[in-house]
Amino acid sequence: MSKILAKLDQNESPIPPPDNLLLNRYKDIVKDINRYQRGELYEYLRELYAEYAGVDKEYVWIQPGMDLFFEDILIIENNKRIIVPYPSYFLFIEQVKHYGYNIVRIPLNERFVQELSIVSRDKPSIIYIDNPNNPTGKIIVSKNDITLIAEINSDNIFLIDEAYYEFCNYTLKDLVKEYDNIVVFRTMSKAFSFAGGRVAFSIINPSLARKVFYYNIVRFRLSTISLGLAIALLENKSYMNDIVDLIRSERKRVIKRIREIGLQVNSSCTNFIMVNTGIPKIAELLQKEGVLVKDLGKILGREYLGYIRVTIGIPRENNAFLYALEKIIAECSQSRCTIHDTS
Ligand SMILES: Cc1ncc(COP(=O)(O)O)c(C=O)c1O
Repeated sequence: MSKILAKLDQNESPIPPPDNLLLNRYKDIVKDINRYQRGELYEYLRELYAEYAGVDKEYVWIQPGMDLFFEDILIIENNKRIIVPYPSYFLFIEQVKHYGYNIVRIPLNERFVQELSIVSRDKPSIIYIDNPNNPTGKIIVSKNDITLIAEINSDNIFLIDEAYYEFCNYTLKDLVKEYDNIVVFRTMSKAFSFAGGRVAFSIINPSLARKVFYYNIVRFRLSTISLGLAIALLENKSYMNDIVDLIRSERKRVIKRIREIGLQVNSSCTNFIMVNTGIPKIAELLQKEGVLVKDLGKILGREYLGYIRVTIGIPRENNAFLYALEKIIAECSQSRCTIHDTS
């Protein structure tokens, strides 16, 4: 494989947090690494996140990645029926398959909310909504939509995944106080540039939390190092705003250029975009040029052949992507690599 010029396939932040924030704190953290993690660290991170999110501390729980929260909820649910948008976050779909769930997929079109409210009446289900949605990059439900649906069938549990909250600034977290069947999930993997640190949060009504999480297990899942570094980052979170600003302005530039080239690209409020290139093997061809993107055709099937999800990187990476894309398009216009050629 050629040298990787741009890694734009996992919606990570392209810039690590400032060195000094992590390295200064690290020395302090490892001093008592021979001991199990102290409860005060978990509690202090809860406090910091509660202040940042604008909720009470007892609504905040922390785990090493969102999938652990999902797992805790998926394993206790008896009905094993889940309603999801189609398309939505691939790894979550893999996870619910693993737990033997019956998956009801609702296509993301103009009738999505209507369909959701009809299907969710049938029988109690878990309803998962990535808001904004991965891979379309769009907010797909409003507070009003969810309030209406939650009132129709109060036995449903709503999992609202706000992994990209910082880029979009739209949240349903205020519903959690009123509705104990709505849970909001956030992460430090995206805007906070801490994917490898594995720190995610849920904002959950204490009455539901008591049923689905066991404090003495959950709090021991995060290492002292993850807790300590996450605290350092949240205490100095202004670096995150600079990253979000950069991604937003680069996203605008990349979308503009893609449209000039004549391709179809969604507007997005996240750190990624979905592009319809019309070239089935586009991800493979980009990889040969050193650019990694997510091949949606491979994950979602024929309907998405030629579609890619591209993370917005730093200018140099985005330029590498645009350059490679234009080169492939120019080459393709002289040979057979359109949507009809699936060989
Ligand atoms: C919608 C969505 N939720 C969750 C995650 C992962 O979150 P975490 O790193 O906290 O497990 C991703 C990562 O791509 C995502 O796209």
